Amino acid sequence: MNSQNIYILGIESSCDDTASSVICNGKVISNVVANQKIHAEYGGVVPELASRAHQQNIVPVVHQALKKAEINKYQLNAVAFTRGPGLMGSLLVGTSFSKSLAYGLNIPLIDVNHMQAHILAHFIDEDGFEKPKFPFLALTISGGHTQIVKVNDYFDMEVIGETIDDAVGEAFDKSGKILGLNYPAGSEIDKLAQSGNPKAFKFTKPKVEGLNFSFSGFKTAVLYFIQREVKVNPNFIKENLNDICASIQYTIIGILIDKLKLATKQTGINQIAIGGGVSANSGIRKALKDGEQKFGWKTYIPKFEFTTDNAAMIAIVGYLKYLDKDFAGQDVMASARLKI
Ligand code: KG4
Ligand code: ZN
Repeated sequence: MNSQNIYILGIESSCDDTASSVICNGKVISNVVANQKIHAEYGGVVPELASRAHQQNIVPVVHQALKKAEINKYQLNAVAFTRGPGLMGSLLVGTSFSKSLAYGLNIPLIDVNHMQAHILAHFIDEDGFEKPKFPFLALTISGGHTQIVKVNDYFDMEVIGETIDDAVGEAFDKSGKILGLNYPAGSEIDKLAQSGNPKAFKFTKPKVEGLNFSFSGFKTAVLYFIQREVKVNPNFIKENLNDICASIQYTIIGILIDKLKLATKQTGINQIAIGGGVSANSGIRKALKDGEQKFGWKTYIPKFEFTTDNAAMIAIVGYLKYLDKDFAGQDVMASARLKI
């Protein structure tokens, strides 16, 4: 073994994906995710089922990550795991597993904040992907999160805006549910929107002070609109699905871009890095790229597999903390509401 090589095992289990990854000196050499299909039947994540599925998945997922990386566990330098935020039952599975593994191997244990990891995923060494320079703004958008974070340094971050109710992914998923689409509906809405007219229907944007977001009123506005139209024409959804999806997506993107414009104005920072499952949205990607021309932004969009919940982002934070010798003790506890 080359003594220069530092191998970090990352473990993520904060919500409904059980994931494990090995990185070597900041480069991903394996990245395994087991999605839990079970939740689709319920139209959302069921915490108790998620926790049980993590227990079943964690050993095979970690094995696979080591196998794909072509290393054995004795070559690992540290184990990094998601401490929070997330669902308590889910976090406990990854936390206890990681503690035991690090203890058994007698190597450092490193606790990772999931929200920091979504942002620091931009520092994974990946050909063709540039790393942001400090300071930058991070927009983290997923089924569980919506935040604008001012990132001064790797571990010097400040949340300057966040949702006061639903996350932006929920706005997609709940709108999709109203339209009869499968959960999670974000990517389906994105696809359908591509052949629709974004200005066909108008939804009012919520008025929220400063850099915070609110999406629960938006979902209700979609519900009332659909109920009203279906009363007049029972086939309304079917006949207008593309236009409805395009209009929903257009409104959501408008909300995000308005807040980013305000954030860049308030902070004077023009570099924007995005993360989270919703950053897969083609409309958001285009709006951000357009922002480079229109507003002088420099935008960073990571490789898709590092934007949704994954363990490579946990492992890269593990690597950064390993270099700082910032380790956790065996008494570290999972924390459902861990803050940045
Ligand atoms: O990061 P993620 O995989 O898991 C967490 O929620 O933490 O994000 C999942 C969210 C779901 O709400 C899903 O509908 C949304 O990301 N999503 C999208 C797209 N692909 C996934 N939303 C809009 N457009 C997409 N293309
Ligand atoms: Zn996440």
